[in-house]
Amino acid sequence: MSKNAILIIGANGQLGSVLKSELLKLYGKKNVIASDITANSSFDGAFETLDATDYNAIETIVKKYSITQIYHLAAILSAKGEQNPLNTWDLNMKMLLNVFEVARKNNVKKVFFPSSIAVFGDAVDRNKTAQMSHLNPSTVYGISKVAGENWAQYYFLRYGLDIRSLRYPGVIGYQSLPGGGTTDYAVEIYHKAIKNEEFNCFLSESTVLPMIYMDDAIRATIELMQAPTENIKIRTSYNIASMSFSPNEIVAAIKEEYINFKINYQPDFRQAIADSWPKCIDDTDARNDWNWKPKYNLQSMTKEMLQKLEKQYKSSVAQN
Ligand code: SER
Repeated sequence: MSKNAILIIGANGQLGSVLKSELLKLYGKKNVIASDITANSSFDGAFETLDATDYNAIETIVKKYSITQIYHLAAILSAKGEQNPLNTWDLNMKMLLNVFEVARKNNVKKVFFPSSIAVFGDAVDRNKTAQMSHLNPSTVYGISKVAGENWAQYYFLRYGLDIRSLRYPGVIGYQSLPGGGTTDYAVEIYHKAIKNEEFNCFLSESTVLPMIYMDDAIRATIELMQAPTENIKIRTSYNIASMSFSPNEIVAAIKEEYINFKINYQPDFRQAIADSWPKCIDDTDARNDWNWKPKYNLQSMTKEMLQKLEKQYKSSVAQN
């Protein structure tokens, strides 16, 4: 087997903090280098502080460790991105193009970059959004992901750089918190439930969005990256689906364990973003090309989220 040396950019984020531990288990401590803009002392492997807007800084790390794969996870998400659209565009695109350019010039074999359901807008069938739908995003984050997908395909066609990508739904996990997204409510709600606190939801009760449990999201990412090259037929980004639900439905699932759980609905500017996104994604291509199949549904995810968070919460209370 050829040697793998993996660099994760954005390793302190919601996905990165879980993905880095999984990659470490798979590829060994010596072969996984985590990086982020701020230091992280809790990672049990090599860590580099890295500002991905700095081309030379990325290249220095890639050369230092003879990196063969990059997972580039750093980005400003949908809701936060709207506060300063031009800054979001600059940052998201600068980091992405730096990564692609460093990769092609330094013999990096594979690159992963996350796309999102935010690439879709109101020109699609929102109940079963097809892979090849028209892309007319409503947010600057979505615009940067559409552009990123096209750049990924361009680098593949022009330079043969093996870039792979997933259009993630909202990701829900107990290990880490998201920041600045429109789907974040579906993580925060579990934290409130286990603390017996009321939850103020920024989306309306009937807003259905596609979601995925962290375990499935990480497995999808690794399965995509490990799939034989000839199986990767989509070089923009793959639709992946798992479950779809509204705040109303997640509350019903939580109430099976926390009968007194209370929620208030106070939709804000994020409602319009959610309303522009699909309710349900058609992931037939991912299933056919590299055998994608989710394991969790709303019930099994809720059970595990509550159990894991209760344990975390109890041990943090015991320590204080
Ligand atoms: N979870 C992301 C967000 O809400 C979507 O990719 O911004």
